[in-house]
Amino acid sequence: MLDKLERLPADSILGLAAACRADPNPSRVDLTIGIYMDEQGLCPVFDAVRQAQQALVAEEVTKAYMPPAGDEAFIQGMQRLVLGDGSSALRDKRVGGVQAPGGCGALRIGAEIVRAAAPDARVWVSDPTWPVHFPLLGSVGLTFETYRYYDPSSHGVDFDAMVEDLKQAVSGDVVLLHGCCHNPCGADLSLQQWGVIAGMAQQQGFTPFIDFAYQGLGDGLEQDAAGLRLVVERVPEVIIAASCSKNMGLYRERTGIALFVCRDEANAQALVSQALVAARRIYSMPPAHGALLAGRILRSETLEASWRGELEAMCQRINGLRSGLRQKLEDRSGRDFGFIQREKGMFSFLGLSPEQALRLRREYSVYMLDSSRINVAGVNARNIDYLATAVAAVL
Ligand SMILES: Cc1ncc(COP(=O)(O)O)c(C=O)c1O
Repeated sequence: MLDKLERLPADSILGLAAACRADPNPSRVDLTIGIYMDEQGLCPVFDAVRQAQQALVAEEVTKAYMPPAGDEAFIQGMQRLVLGDGSSALRDKRVGGVQAPGGCGALRIGAEIVRAAAPDARVWVSDPTWPVHFPLLGSVGLTFETYRYYDPSSHGVDFDAMVEDLKQAVSGDVVLLHGCCHNPCGADLSLQQWGVIAGMAQQQGFTPFIDFAYQGLGDGLEQDAAGLRLVVERVPEVIIAASCSKNMGLYRERTGIALFVCRDEANAQALVSQALVAARRIYSMPPAHGALLAGRILRSETLEASWRGELEAMCQRINGLRSGLRQKLEDRSGRDFGFIQREKGMFSFLGLSPEQALRLRREYSVYMLDSSRINVAGVNARNIDYLATAVAAVL
């Protein structure tokens, strides 16, 4: 039976990262995979995570299953972090939260809820979007429509085109939005544009589904949540998939949450019950470790302050790299790279052709995706000059 199955190609991003690691060129630059890297090229453990972990290891007395919905401190803390202290939805208890294995798990649980509520729902995704959205939501049986989003010529959001396309989204459809730090393009909506999308959701009745994997890595925790919070204030039903992979560095601990903003408390509770049954079908119980750490951080004033400080430094470093890279690319190429500084989070398209990306890989050991998406956090003081020179050479 099993020997009929063929070997599938490796994930292209992970494959590129592996090729970079195997490249003997000491000047190699890895801008592929979406993890934060510090000046030493390491993905660091936050101090607050280290401290929470020490306390957890010292105090943990059982490895019994978590409650199915997850750790209460984590759920409360994440609701506050994502929706804000002043959230009227939280005050009215119209939010249900279910801990999930990473942002991916939360996206999948959200998709299960959509499918249960509206089996024929179409999911509107931005062009481009994170490729993993397709298997995560599509495997539940949902179908996709695309709305125009990124304009390669302006390196910004083509908002008129986005609005025109989303005019076709109707009640029973879902519009998937990147809460901040759009992956792969780094071009985000302005607050005013979020307001327009919220108005369309109100008028047309579609349900916003917000993928929130990078809170704190664009402009800061509160600023990055402003668009999402505006939507939640105006639209009665919103699904959110939030992740602690990037902003707490808990990637491998698979720590995320699916939030359901509903019309009332009873509906929020109904959705949690539905989400638990969906989780039972897929993985049964959520993983504990990462959520217990995040819960400890979010319920301790000192740990939270330490974490916020470190995250802010990360965010400032990324933005510093953005302006440094812009400057160096402009100096060497004489072209305008101002978009790198305007874009947010870890990713930007450099605007190169797949052939140019390939040349960078072959001739300079500079690894980026064929689309020329780079992970800005892979840039550092040691490689920035080499990178800028190499990019200018293939332009
Ligand atoms: C756009 C987007 N959504 C969600 C995720 C979820 O990540 P995780 O499942 O590791 O929390 C990622 C991770 O790269 C992402 O880029």
